[in-house]
Amino acid sequence: MDAQIDIAVVGGGIIGLMAAAAVARRGKQVVVLEQHFPGTQEGSSAEHVRMWRTLYTEISHSQLAYRAGDLYATIESETSRKILHHHGLLNFGIETDYTPEGTLLTPVETMRTLNRPVRLLSRRDIEREYPFKNLPADYVGIYHADNAVIDVRSAFIAALQLCNKYHVRVLPRHRVRRLDNGDDGVGIVTDQTSLKANKVILAAGAYTNQILKPSFGIELDFLLWDMCFAYYKLDGSRGNYPMWFQFDQARNGHSNLFYGFPDVPFGRPGFVRVAVDWASHTFTDVDDRIYAPPRLDLEIVREFVLERLAGVDSAPVDAGRALMAHLPDNLSVLDYLPSTCQNNRNIVVCAAGWAFKFAPLFGDICARLALGLPVSDDISEFSISRPSVLRFGPVDDTVGGQQSRALKPVQDD
Ligand code: BEZ
Repeated sequence: MDAQIDIAVVGGGIIGLMAAAAVARRGKQVVVLEQHFPGTQEGSSAEHVRMWRTLYTEISHSQLAYRAGDLYATIESETSRKILHHHGLLNFGIETDYTPEGTLLTPVETMRTLNRPVRLLSRRDIEREYPFKNLPADYVGIYHADNAVIDVRSAFIAALQLCNKYHVRVLPRHRVRRLDNGDDGVGIVTDQTSLKANKVILAAGAYTNQILKPSFGIELDFLLWDMCFAYYKLDGSRGNYPMWFQFDQARNGHSNLFYGFPDVPFGRPGFVRVAVDWASHTFTDVDDRIYAPPRLDLEIVREFVLERLAGVDSAPVDAGRALMAHLPDNLSVLDYLPSTCQNNRNIVVCAAGWAFKFAPLFGDICARLALGLPVSDDISEFSISRPSVLRFGPVDDTVGGQQSRALKPVQDD
């Protein structure tokens, strides 16, 4: 076994790599253990694009997004790579009950408070300026220009560049089986080797419970989605789309919350990506994923495209999915192990939520927690000890499990 290292990061997704670089730039020895390879398509970081968005119902989330955006900009200049592409975000539709993405109009006040007012659009403005069609008469929109499409691959290359610059050892194909947390550090058992670190940052996304459960007998109360999307070819008759969300009440037993990305050269050039913010197949054990995008989800998206998107070919191509881990309140965990675990501060856990946009910030906070440095951001809402984050017993999927969650299957209206 090698000598004990300072920090081991479990998970080579975007948060793990950002955390590793943030620790290593402070002069510490860091190893990243990744079961696949950095940038793998098997986790929550899959595919070409993510949103860096600031239109939130909760002001704290907008503030965190702006903080993360500043850090992305710093990384862009340090690595000479472009990561954020500012296509703006258009949210449109009607004011609904609270959804996993908040509501349509509540960000108006959030952004006013932050002195970054949104632009309000009528249904006619939206259809005149963008290629949407057939919008109901009561639809309105809000737009903010500084929201951006994240070039996922560029973000990974930048994170790896930083890891390289600060001498992080990244070990692909090292699946962590167990952590043995003791008074003198953490033993890490992988399928290739064993090592010991003073501290561990667990950034394993949807796979987190596969480590927490055998190591500490605890699990996060995850609901996992294989979240699907498809690409539609622009036919050249209309212009490009912005990034967008449509908010509307659920109908026909599924969510009516859709979202999309513009045509970007680092995605599928000439295509827009469209998805429903919902999944027909949800599960709690990551090994129960089905890989193929469910037909129902693809059909829902295609119906939506036919009804609302002008200037695109109607045939979906390159349908795919990304693995998403949700907690009942849709927020992330960013904390030490719960205090009921011995030596809990040896292990930092970061998991769940739509966190790619926060990656440089969450990575830095993981590093600070692991190194015992002060954290200036308020991360109390990401506490591992808040209600309904930890699952202590077997989950009854029909009564106390999925059905009782915030993300329960939507009802017809
Ligand atoms: C987000 O970035 O927060 C997000 C993007 C697409 C769907 C849902 C959430």
